[in-house]
Amino acid sequence: MNDIILRTTNLGKHYKNRWAAQDINLEVHRGDVFGFLGPNGAGKSTSIRMILSLIKPTTGSVQLFGHDLAAEREKALMNVAGIVEKPDFYLYLSAFRNMQIAGSLTLGRTPDKKKVMETLQVVGLAERALDKVKTFSHGMKQRLGIAQALLCDPQLIMLDEPTNGLDPQGMKEVRELILRLSTERGITVFLSSHLLNEVEQVATRMAIINKGKMIVQGSVADLLKANANKVLVHAEPVKKAVSTLTAMKNVSGVTVTEEGIIARIEPKFAPAAVKGLVEAKCKVFSVQPRHSLEEYFLEKTGASEP
Ligand SMILES: Nc1ncnc2c1ncn2[C@@H]1O[C@H](COP(=O)(O)OP(=O)(O)OP(=O)(O)O)[C@@H](O)[C@H]1O
Ligand SMILES: [Mg+2]
Repeated sequence: MNDIILRTTNLGKHYKNRWAAQDINLEVHRGDVFGFLGPNGAGKSTSIRMILSLIKPTTGSVQLFGHDLAAEREKALMNVAGIVEKPDFYLYLSAFRNMQIAGSLTLGRTPDKKKVMETLQVVGLAERALDKVKTFSHGMKQRLGIAQALLCDPQLIMLDEPTNGLDPQGMKEVRELILRLSTERGITVFLSSHLLNEVEQVATRMAIINKGKMIVQGSVADLLKANANKVLVHAEPVKKAVSTLTAMKNVSGVTVTEEGIIARIEPKFAPAAVKGLVEAKCKVFSVQPRHSLEEYFLEKTGASEP
């Protein structure tokens, strides 16, 4: 079977007067933790809904495990589970009971006790199995949602902003869970987020989407490499520092931004660059690596926060 287990081709959704998503061409390989990154309103949930067949695309197609979603819906979705936005629970029932109900809906039969407990164990909720869900924190509910999705033993799990609204500890727990699903259970994970930092920490490949359109797709390592070696320099006088840096052999792309001077300098040439600035009688206040993928993301999406 093809290594690409999810492929979308020119996938698009048009609402009344706007395209919520347009020409989305995703390629998710088996084993990926795939990050789908974009600011609010970019079209992430819309794309995920189309992939999970919750809404009908206006254009294009979705292939899952080699099956066309429109032509072979059941086969295409057989090994796929997903959560779009917040999972729903019966708050006055226990986590265990919620799992049984969710299981009977997706599997068509009540999952046995062992399976439910094993799955709760995976998400770190086994000890809380008999507690009512209304006593759960937001992060615990999020993990319970993932446990429900795991009941059908999916090969691909689609999570729409799984860490949204969680505190740093809750985010870390979900991140660790995602990595465990990938490494220990071999599940391909597709997750959306509006936080680059979040995606970067777990994803092997990613796509960036903005205003309904895809901007870039590739391995996280390659994308980072392509945007590497930028540094932020605080030196004065700025004009002198810029001309000095611009004249240096191993420095390129010198630009002045609100934050300071940004230049592309390989780390091994940084000391020479600083020495050059000092020799040119510039005061060097700081030279720090610039998180350039973040800059790229902000530049391409105009998002106010990374
Ligand atoms: N049912 C709908 N009717 C009309 N417009 C919609 C509908 N659903 C989404 N949209 C619009 O489509 C665009 C993309 O929305 P979507 O929910 O896919 O974005 P998102 O990337 O998931 O954003 P967020 O990070 O806020 O969840 C937005 O402009 C939104 O207003
Ligand atoms: Mg959304």
